[in-house]
Amino acid sequence: MKKLNVGMIGYKFMGRAHANAWRQVDKFFPVSAQPVLHTICGRDRKAVKAAAAQLGWERIATSWQEVVADPEIDIIDINTGNDTHAEIAIAAARAGKHILCEKPLAMNVREAQAMLAAVKEAGVVHMVCHNYRRIPALAQAKKMIAAGDLGRIFHYRARYLQDWIVDPEFPLVGRLQVKLAGSGTHGDINAHIIDLARYLVGEFSEVCGHLETFIKERPLEGSKGKKRGRVTVDDAVLTLGKFKNGAIASLEASRFALGRKNHIQIEVNGSLGSLVFDFEDMNRLKYFNQADPADRQGYRDIIVTEKVHPYAGAWWPPGHILGYEHTFVHTVFEFIQAVVKGRSVSPTFADGLQNQKVLEAVEASSKKRRWVKLT
Ligand SMILES: NC(=O)c1ccc[n+]([C@@H]2O[C@H](COP(=O)([O-])OP(=O)(O)OC[C@H]3O[C@@H](n4cnc5c(N)ncnc54)[C@H](O)[C@@H]3O)[C@@H](O)[C@H]2O)c1
Repeated sequence: MKKLNVGMIGYKFMGRAHANAWRQVDKFFPVSAQPVLHTICGRDRKAVKAAAAQLGWERIATSWQEVVADPEIDIIDINTGNDTHAEIAIAAARAGKHILCEKPLAMNVREAQAMLAAVKEAGVVHMVCHNYRRIPALAQAKKMIAAGDLGRIFHYRARYLQDWIVDPEFPLVGRLQVKLAGSGTHGDINAHIIDLARYLVGEFSEVCGHLETFIKERPLEGSKGKKRGRVTVDDAVLTLGKFKNGAIASLEASRFALGRKNHIQIEVNGSLGSLVFDFEDMNRLKYFNQADPADRQGYRDIIVTEKVHPYAGAWWPPGHILGYEHTFVHTVFEFIQAVVKGRSVSPTFADGLQNQKVLEAVEASSKKRRWVKLT
């Protein structure tokens, strides 16, 4: 079977999730090429060596430039912080590598435009890792909405909540600094429910947002609480949106919802029915069908583990549930197939750019205190 050599940059949270996916995918899915865990890259030689041994990579590198320049590498998988995505992706495209890049695609619209131009010019396959699109229940929701089962869509309602920075003594880590992260909750988790909105319902035409920073200063890392620095990103963001197809959206994203660790809920209401998804119960899709007889109406539970459900048939018998890590396996499966067949795979860098435009429009709206149109 054809082999594809992967060079993975960054090996912590997302690096581990992606490494697991590259390793698992050909064991379960009918891939047209076998991914080879060729080179793992990080800046600290000792740590990257340990990661290579634990995650099963053949070689290590301490400079991403070296990996991008390696003629043996076919795919560059970017799992580094947001401030490095553009530089690595543009260099990788120029070196003719296919690219899987973590979200948000870039720090801003300008960077995302340059990344899209680079991959287009190079003619390489490009994908943003919005892995939640590959949750079987949400892929099933997409199928049902596209088939018209919900009729005309009226509402997209989503929330993505976490609670890891409620403590004011939590340090000023990179994710709380605009120069490293681009934005806070907004680009980190609101970006996911914006992507799901575009995936399930369509393009936004206009948005109105409010970004809030509750804790304005935090201890500098390593200062033992003695020195403090300014928080330069949002802690929470509320978004109202209008879609081009006439539906409306309300989105809430926060890192200040105590008790909520990685809470994602999506509800879509149409003229013929509704769908409800809860990530903490991710094998279930709730479906209300207005056509059901009046005496039996109510939400039914679709447990998305049957062969007929997206991705499920590749795994276990019906009822044997899937989890977070499977979403990355599904993502790399789609990516490999696109590379082998020379086709595009969504979400592409064009989707990443559009997501970034929505993020920027919400920020502009919050600053100007008015609705902002999307281009
Ligand atoms: N898809 C998702 O649901 C999801 C979840 C979490 C994070 N992310 C995204 O993934 C990316 C990484 O986040 P994370 O949580 O894994 O961060 P992390 O801090 O856990 O890991 C970042 C990794 O990048 C490496 N790195 C940073 N700069 C580097 C450089 N110049 N050269 C080589 N390696 C470098 C670090 O050493 C580390 O291994 C971010 O863009 C984040 O937004 C996506």
